[in-house]
Amino acid sequence: MRKNIIAGNWKMNLTPSESKGLVNMLKDACEAAKCDVVFCVPYVDIDTVTKELEGCKNIAVGAQNLHFEDHGAYTGEVSADMLKEMGVKYVIIGHSERRQYFGETDETVNKKIKMALRKGLIPILCVGETLQMKDDGITIDHISIQIKRAFRGVDSEDVDRVIIAYEPIWAIGTGRTASAYQAEEVCAGIRAIIGDIYGDEIAENIRILYGGSMNSENCEELMAMPDIDGGLIGGASLKNDFNLIVNSVRE
Ligand code: PGA
Repeated sequence: MRKNIIAGNWKMNLTPSESKGLVNMLKDACEAAKCDVVFCVPYVDIDTVTKELEGCKNIAVGAQNLHFEDHGAYTGEVSADMLKEMGVKYVIIGHSERRQYFGETDETVNKKIKMALRKGLIPILCVGETLQMKDDGITIDHISIQIKRAFRGVDSEDVDRVIIAYEPIWAIGTGRTASAYQAEEVCAGIRAIIGDIYGDEIAENIRILYGGSMNSENCEELMAMPDIDGGLIGGASLKNDFNLIVNSVRE
């Protein structure tokens, strides 16, 4: 049985003092939720959020990126060890905004996945197609390439620690969600790709999330789908909507 997971992606929002207010607004509902909950916060908020969450067993802190080297002359970057020491448990890798604006490639994504796994962080690997790819009917082909490259050289015993988030780029921050059936089709396709590489048992265990304008109104329908094990939530993670989303998740 795969445990559902709802992860908030705060992106570049909220200063440390602002983050306190949000954590306090969300903490009770998230603590009572029947799923795992993760707040993926800006680096500078990690310390404040971790302290505010002290004693909350159900909520973990995640980062939104990491560097693929252990340490060294990489001005402005943050390593896995630094995140670990701050109490971070999860890390988003390969978000489409990082691929689009910060030169993230399938190759760097692969290196980051391996680094996160080596250091005991849980990677949330983001994959997804552009609107053009969707219209051209090549969604699954594209995602298959992203996944095969992301998992290159990842040992089978580590694979089911990775969480995959299917995020159609055309649905991120646009208010346009994939229909539950569209999302299910791709998530089931992702599970099949993992099955082809690593076998059915691993494919059955790996958790696959949907992300892209998920909110309290569409989450139940999406989460009812057999291959969708939760959500990666951007805009709606910064408000009370997030409470409603985590409350709606059943075991
Ligand atoms: P959104 O973002 O929910 O605001 O569409 C999702 C994401 O980018 O992870």
